[in-house]
Amino acid sequence: MSQKIYKVPEDFAALAHLRQADYQRLYQESVRDPNSFWARIGRRLDWIQPFAKVKDTSFDEHDFRIRWYYDGKLNVAANCLDRHLTKRGDKTAIIWEGDDPKLSEHITYRQLYERVCQCANALKSLGVKKGDRVTIYMPMIPEAAVAMLACARIGAIHSVVFGGFSADSLAGRIADCGSSVVITADEGIRGGKRIPLKTNVDLALTMPNTDCVKHVLVARRTGIRVPMYAARDRWFDDVVNSQPKECAPEVMDAEDPLFILYTSGSTGKPKGVLHTSGGYLVYAAMTHELVFDLREDDIFWCTADVGWVTGHSYVVYGPLANGATTVMFEGVPNYPDCGRFWQAVDKHKVTLFYTAPTAIRALMREGEEPVKEWSRSSLRLLGTVGEPINPEAWEWYHRVVGDGRCPVVDTWWQTETGGILISPLPGAIDQKPGSATLPFFGVKPAIVDNEGNTLEGACEGNLILTDSWPGQMRTVFGDHQRFIDTYFKTFPGRYFTGDGARRDEDGYYWITGRVDDVLNVAGHRLGTAEIESAMVAHPSVAEAAAVGYPHDIKGQGIYVYVTLIADAQPSEALRTELRDWVRKEISPIATPDLIQWAPGLPKTRSGKIMRRILRKIAANEHDQLGDISTLADPSVVENLVRERMNRP
Ligand code: WT7
Repeated sequence: MSQKIYKVPEDFAALAHLRQADYQRLYQESVRDPNSFWARIGRRLDWIQPFAKVKDTSFDEHDFRIRWYYDGKLNVAANCLDRHLTKRGDKTAIIWEGDDPKLSEHITYRQLYERVCQCANALKSLGVKKGDRVTIYMPMIPEAAVAMLACARIGAIHSVVFGGFSADSLAGRIADCGSSVVITADEGIRGGKRIPLKTNVDLALTMPNTDCVKHVLVARRTGIRVPMYAARDRWFDDVVNSQPKECAPEVMDAEDPLFILYTSGSTGKPKGVLHTSGGYLVYAAMTHELVFDLREDDIFWCTADVGWVTGHSYVVYGPLANGATTVMFEGVPNYPDCGRFWQAVDKHKVTLFYTAPTAIRALMREGEEPVKEWSRSSLRLLGTVGEPINPEAWEWYHRVVGDGRCPVVDTWWQTETGGILISPLPGAIDQKPGSATLPFFGVKPAIVDNEGNTLEGACEGNLILTDSWPGQMRTVFGDHQRFIDTYFKTFPGRYFTGDGARRDEDGYYWITGRVDDVLNVAGHRLGTAEIESAMVAHPSVAEAAAVGYPHDIKGQGIYVYVTLIADAQPSEALRTELRDWVRKEISPIATPDLIQWAPGLPKTRSGKIMRRILRKIAANEHDQLGDISTLADPSVVENLVRERMNRP
């Protein structure tokens, strides 16, 4: 833990929306009287019918409800587009930066408005209605944002699936929410490599329970020839470009669904996290404005893909609701070289830059040279998200990338939370490298021990939230009970984040990482159960156990213990085959870093795998295995340790 404190820079504070005293005053107000606080904030949006009711929430299992602004009506796309047209019609809404550094495009608010209306009309012409689900499986091209906003405009619920996911993963997500339309592209292109999106869609649609899909819209990205099935497939441009450039926004209840986003949990298949319209947009917009201290002329760049919640809230919805200019980046940090981010920062005069610790660590390894080649003088704030940032990486980001001038905001949140919950406000809260610092307005974190006792003062334990905030997820699509069971049962009446955290003497929070069976690999969330079920689907595998282990760049790597069936022989070839198998079943993100052959797995007498022990063995902490006396067969552990010691 770093004890260093970085004071808010005075020149930054002088111009910031909020200063030190503002934070304390507003935070107190937000938790003392959430109704009047959030009523005031809610009025920042354009309501078709203004709300009179604000907060109606209870985490008590027997009286469970989460509703915000629930008698108000609005349209999310109209809030992101229409209301900016008079003042900001010619302002750039989206700067698209291609994978190839020679490619970029500026799209004004008026142009975006017209493209969204056309796409909305196109979806209507395909029969899409309010409440229908639309799966978006696209590269980071403007059409992805257009498609999301077009859904919002007509009240369809979008489900964006990250373009890196396999056909199997895509099929599961299409089937789960019963999409009637899939929007995709011929191919994606990232780091110079092509991703066969349309081919994956074709394959996905041969899989079980995907016959809900009636139409596939295909945007042209690389222009490669792809099969088009006449009854089902249409080129995006052909259907969209001929449509009228006006489309009346659907009147939506604040609590009507806006989107579903699948995310991994500790058990079972990924959950469809459902977010609704009013509270989500209020929260995304407000956090975007205050955490990044947004000003009218800022160029905001969040490097996330729209396939993740970060891309939803801080590439699309938050920035556009605020009338900001948002950068949409198709590429990766190290292509064509490690100066890619900073070259694009200079090219577009980016002022606010938001990325993941894994990217920072990877670039840090390449040294200062590729950073110093570029001026970066436009930057005034840096942010991170997705996983704990180690103090060394934080210091490097601050000193090298920000030339020591820019505050760094380490923002903690989750797919489920819709927006940032714990983060410094850059003009108001002093930073400590590695700490997400203090809760945002209205957010009530607490730390409890494993029995659920609330710990006071400086302490360490499980991070929970004791009250609702407007951006909170409302349900798991199609399975409300799973929502309650997953988040509100471990510590009854409170939302369990799945994270561990420490709180220091100053009340600062330090997120220590997941305490459940969820891995965070390079900022991507994966369930150990998913990896294991992909593994055991291979004919040679009898049993598998996946755990995380410390990894220099990715934060966590994936370590899998594999028990083969009796007639299979361990070999390097089989190891490679199993790695490729998991890539194909889930995604390259889920590729195991290390596979260890395990003739047996440590289990309790009731048959439960003891992951605690497997984690210690993977981390090479053999002296800290703890109590192994409850194991059915303690000799299993000796074998695994011996095998582990034979490799680096
Ligand atoms: C998990 C949520 C929401 C943004 C992208 C990830 C970890 C996220 C931080 C941070 C430490 C962090 C947590 C959390 N996480 N941000 N600033 N410091 N850990 O969303 O895929 O839903 O993952 O990411 O473990 O629970 P996600």
